[in-house]
Amino acid sequence: MKPHTNQPLSDYIEFSIEEMITRSAAVYTSLKRRHSIRQFSDRDVPKTVIENCIKAAGTAPSGANHQPWHFVAIHSPKIKREVREAAEAHEQRFYDGRAGDEWLDALKPLGTDAQKPYLEHAPWLIAIFSQKKGGVNVGEKHTNYYVHESVGIATGMLITALHESGLVTLTHTPKPMTFLSKICNRPDDERPYMLIIAGYPSVHATVPEHALNKKSLDDISTFL
Ligand SMILES: Cc1cc2nc3c(=O)[nH]c(=O)nc-3n(C[C@H](O)[C@H](O)[C@H](O)COP(=O)(O)O)c2cc1C
Repeated sequence: MKPHTNQPLSDYIEFSIEEMITRSAAVYTSLKRRHSIRQFSDRDVPKTVIENCIKAAGTAPSGANHQPWHFVAIHSPKIKREVREAAEAHEQRFYDGRAGDEWLDALKPLGTDAQKPYLEHAPWLIAIFSQKKGGVNVGEKHTNYYVHESVGIATGMLITALHESGLVTLTHTPKPMTFLSKICNRPDDERPYMLIIAGYPSVHATVPEHALNKKSLDDISTFL
């Protein structure tokens, strides 16, 4: 058994009730401006911004603090082209029928199709991998716990960090995603989890009206 040691909490900041209300409202106002964008500009974004956002995602809570994630930030035009070609090949089969009618119907209002030019145009693609085995230290091979939940939270924090930094994102989940492991040269015990496209929006960027329809507080919550 490892020793159980603690440190005093030294970085908590308490706000007045008034300030807390103002801040929570400001967070909502800011996050309401986050939209999945499918038209990206090819303007570059400094690597430091992406590094900071990945560092922010890496602070996420995780089962037993094993941090079962790995982020591959792709900037190389050659590798982005490889991702686009592989993703479009899979997506073509998906839209040609493999998805099934119900799924394709659900996607119709978003106007998505098999063409993914943003995989090449956007400055950054961030491929997120989940790890079944690991530990609090790199190289350990213990069982990881709540992997899906932990990586989902880290991904949400990554998207939030990118948004708060002034970028737009798209959450992309080509099916299957296994090609990402090969292109990103990741080990067999990691699974591709999600692909986040990040950059500036194109000046012609649009948002599907369907996506703006968010459930109300009453719809999504119960206070007891
Ligand atoms: C797990 C997940 C997978 C998604 N996969 C795709 C995808 O493969 N392609 C795509 O265009 N959008 C994808 N989206 C984006 C959703 O369509 C989008 O979040 C939804 O329409 C709501 O729009 P908003 O993000 O602007 O609020 C995905 C979102 C999530 C959370």
